[in-house]
Amino acid sequence: MSFKVPRGTQDILPSESWKWQQVESILREVCEIYRYKEIRTPIFEQTELFQRTVGDTTDIVTKEMYTFMDRGNRSMTLRPEGTAPVVRSFVENKMFGYPDQPVKLYYQGPMFRYERQQAGRYRQFVQFGVEAIGSADPAIDAEVISLAMEVYKRAGLKDIKLVLNSLGDAESRNAHREALVAHFTPSIGELCKDCQSRLEKNPLRILDCKVDREHPLMATAPSLTDYLNEESKVYFDQVKNYLAAIDIVYELDPNLVRGLDYYNHTAFEIMSTSDGFGAITTLCGGGRYNGLAEEIGGPSAPGIGYAMSIERLLLALEAEGKSFKQGPELDVYIVTLDEAAHRKGFNVLNELRSAGVRADMDYMDRKMKAQMKSADRFNAKIVIIIGEDEVNEQVVQLKNMTEGTQEKVEDANLIAKIKEQME
Ligand code: HAM
Repeated sequence: MSFKVPRGTQDILPSESWKWQQVESILREVCEIYRYKEIRTPIFEQTELFQRTVGDTTDIVTKEMYTFMDRGNRSMTLRPEGTAPVVRSFVENKMFGYPDQPVKLYYQGPMFRYERQQAGRYRQFVQFGVEAIGSADPAIDAEVISLAMEVYKRAGLKDIKLVLNSLGDAESRNAHREALVAHFTPSIGELCKDCQSRLEKNPLRILDCKVDREHPLMATAPSLTDYLNEESKVYFDQVKNYLAAIDIVYELDPNLVRGLDYYNHTAFEIMSTSDGFGAITTLCGGGRYNGLAEEIGGPSAPGIGYAMSIERLLLALEAEGKSFKQGPELDVYIVTLDEAAHRKGFNVLNELRSAGVRADMDYMDRKMKAQMKSADRFNAKIVIIIGEDEVNEQVVQLKNMTEGTQEKVEDANLIAKIKEQME
């Protein structure tokens, strides 16, 4: 019997994981610059948390959740996204009482959605996201968008565009909802079963139906933009002004509705415009979710956030033909020529490591030539060579690979010498 990685998941092998680490360090740096602090929530939550917040007519909740009964007969779900868990934690831990509001949080970790696998779409993917909870200042909407753009900029992506929309407040959405019902009701029979049930429960979701995407009724559907009330328009204008003030360019897209129910006011996505990128061009998405904290039993705490998958960022880099630079893996590689040399080499190795030097040696009893090749592959700056003479004389040969020099160094002076050469 042989085993395979489950469909829609992937192993991140050492040849790739260093790139993930590079992205992760960019993310941490940007979060520090913007003063977002890390939060870690569990991988699974009560199923109802997602039903109530993401919405029980959304694709995520109806088709994509990994839900199971635990041994105590409680329905649990592997988190399909990070916002609901973070807001749950905000409420549960009474973060609304923290002296510094809004509370600015970031998270990173695996999310799970039972989706059809394709390039850029996985069943387990790693999302990085931020949530700023507690403020309804339009400037913070611009801050979150600016943070998202900054991440891509630092990663080196150029072919991206920001798409923006406003979903308005509850009053605007209700007016739009009524218009949608009036628009779709006469011909609802032409749409799929899911859409038919969405008509009553949540007609906005009809607009992101994957089955009926091309139906003519979609193109002529009333646009939310036309139903924004004055307050929502003013709010949206302020967000746009803040973005313009910091030179963030955007496109308006009245059809950007997002696939989760908790949004209102600002909604945005950043897309890849690179030719090399596959069918899915969205790199990240986010928006405002005033009312979400109340929905799960908390006080009023307006919030905004966004999330991106690291997988799609790496794919976008590849599509643009960019890659991170991988620095040398090792400072020192030790080559040994016989058994006594191997024993001495092992001691030297441990001394080097204790001194904080990145070092390794051969454990496969290979010939000198093969060991030198490894040193080369690891890009070691220094190679230490130990043979019979070196053991007897209590010295080593120290070869500086960048300068092409070789010298004999006494054991007692080795660490100092290596440190000197590494400067
Ligand atoms: P979302 O649009 O469902 O929003 O997902 C956000 C991002 O997660 C996507 O733009 C994409 O980068 C990544 N993503 C989603 N599904 C997959 C998948 N199957 N495979 C690979 N990547 C995927 C949310 O999740 C919201 N919680 C975002 C948010 C945070 N809104 C406010 N705060």
